[in-house]
Amino acid sequence: MAGIKRKKITIVGAGATGATTAHWCAAKELGDIVLLDVVSGVPQGRALDLLQSAPLEGFDCSVIGTNNYDDTAGSDVVVITAGSPRKPGMSRDDLLNINSNIVRTAAREALNRSPEAILIVLTNPLDVMCWVALRASGLPKNRVVGQSGVLDSARFRTFIAEEIGVSFEDVSAMVLGGHGDSMVPLVRYAHVGGVPVAQLLSRDRIEKLVERTRFGGGEIVGLMGTSAYYAPAAAVTQMIEAILRDKKRLIPCAAYLEGEYGQNGVFAGVPVILGGNGVERIIELELDALESEAFAASCRDVRENMARLSGSGSE
Ligand code: 2OP
Repeated sequence: MAGIKRKKITIVGAGATGATTAHWCAAKELGDIVLLDVVSGVPQGRALDLLQSAPLEGFDCSVIGTNNYDDTAGSDVVVITAGSPRKPGMSRDDLLNINSNIVRTAAREALNRSPEAILIVLTNPLDVMCWVALRASGLPKNRVVGQSGVLDSARFRTFIAEEIGVSFEDVSAMVLGGHGDSMVPLVRYAHVGGVPVAQLLSRDRIEKLVERTRFGGGEIVGLMGTSAYYAPAAAVTQMIEAILRDKKRLIPCAAYLEGEYGQNGVFAGVPVILGGNGVERIIELELDALESEAFAASCRDVRENMARLSGSGSE
């Protein structure tokens, strides 16, 4: 369409999560899509396959696959999902060193060509990789955001809806902290159609859902031998949409904390307003003593990995 400049989305990493993100973004016509990977042929093939669904699904955007960062120039959003996925028995943290090199290169290469872009990180261990991307890109903190809370909250919402037998749509919930086993599902902030979940389920049953949420990613790795991708891709697509359409969604994302929640110099999942300028505001919820303690413990886990990475010389 002459005169209208479409938004441009680069997805670095054409594995299952990257390809599925491209799929959701195309289906929602969020913008033109560039799928980039180091493996020759794979992003090109996936992009062509997706593009050939356009006449059937009726979306109008371009989808290209490439191994060359030059094709990503002028992107509005860059998603980094490249990295080694988890194998059975591996924690997200085992991926630390392998993935930090990948994320550092991707952030630099992409931002060199798209200096105005907002960077969304999915690569694990998520919160540390956001920090790596922030440092490597030199971007202001509002323009580097991690996808974790949207996914973890979606899992918590799914489990709550199934347990009570209500529509998934009616459940809202927040999961804060690092995207690891110490994440903090906030039961007090979980509602079904505005009704606090504690009025609908016993403490024991809620506690089981909380535990299942904490290990929600691992449950899937255990079942199919590799990481989840439908829900992670849907979660990041919600974030891309919030940014490109300046929706100002209030959703939990990994953001760089400088004093909020008593934390300094660390990425962790917190409620943010996500819009055209990225993380436009961090919302500070009132946490009770147990929630605060759990949040601080989760941030300690993130810091431990940051320290491990600095100590390894690969930072
Ligand atoms: C997950 O939790 C891959 O970290 C992602 O499934």
